[in-house]
Amino acid sequence: MSDALLIADAVSKKFGGVQAVDRVSIEVASGSIHAVIGPNGAGKTTFFNTLSGFFFPDSGTVWFDGVDITNETNWRRIKRGMSRTFQTPSIFPELSVYENLLIGTQAKRGVAFRLNSPSAKARGEIDARVDELLGFVGLAAAKSRTVSELSHGSQRLVEIAMSLSTEPKLVLLDEPMAGLAEAETDRVIAVIRDLHERLGLTVVFVEHNMRVVLSLAHRITVLDRGRLLAEGTPAEIAADEAVRDAYLGKEVIDHV
Ligand SMILES: Nc1ncnc2c1ncn2[C@@H]1O[C@H](COP(=O)(O)OP(=O)(O)OP(=O)(O)O)[C@@H](O)[C@H]1O
Ligand SMILES: [Mg+2]
Repeated sequence: MSDALLIADAVSKKFGGVQAVDRVSIEVASGSIHAVIGPNGAGKTTFFNTLSGFFFPDSGTVWFDGVDITNETNWRRIKRGMSRTFQTPSIFPELSVYENLLIGTQAKRGVAFRLNSPSAKARGEIDARVDELLGFVGLAAAKSRTVSELSHGSQRLVEIAMSLSTEPKLVLLDEPMAGLAEAETDRVIAVIRDLHERLGLTVVFVEHNMRVVLSLAHRITVLDRGRLLAEGTPAEIAADEAVRDAYLGKEVIDHV
């Protein structure tokens, strides 16, 4: 019996004439950090979308926690314990950090969403949970700030905190460090590491920066033009000739 929390077997997805994902398989071990890398247009986001239920694959199978979820809606998957962030931030910039977190936390409880008037009974529990999530990502002091005023790195952390508000077992992060300066990248790295070390969650993330990928991931899946190019440990991927030729360039890996 495999200890994989998430398995995709030969998943394919086509858009018109573009075979965006072509028979890609992955096995994500429970409690691990797994990176998905590859050049622009390799199919990483599309693959994520088939895992999270944002798109259904044309063929192939996805299992989560031993259950075939291939044709389940995104909402069902969230209820099973799957959560994701998007390559384009999906937070509410004009709302406060607290209000953003309130949205996810209320949704999890099945409370009808009312920004200003959650029931008094639920309010205390929800506030405690929001404080816990903000503390976890190091944003307790920013609770009342409007999200658009925060740095990009802090906005990414709000998004990660929101993804935790549904109490997931698995978090899918699509380029959580994209466009961040190095110091901010390090904050996000630390939080992702904590998802694994402190919360015991399983993390799958897409990232272009090889320094980040090789330091954070336990296993790496490499996509290229919709196909699975390689899969292995950071050391195996760094040494893989096909990966170096197709994507990374020797100089990138030699500097890690
Ligand atoms: N909704 C869509 N409709 C049509 N084509 C799409 C759609 N989404 C993605 N594609 C195409 O599928 C291919 C894979 O795109 P995808 O966004 O999955 O790649 P990616 O690896 O995430 O790239 P990036 O690193 O730029 O984020 C590309 O050729 C893209 O143009
Ligand atoms: Mg993408």
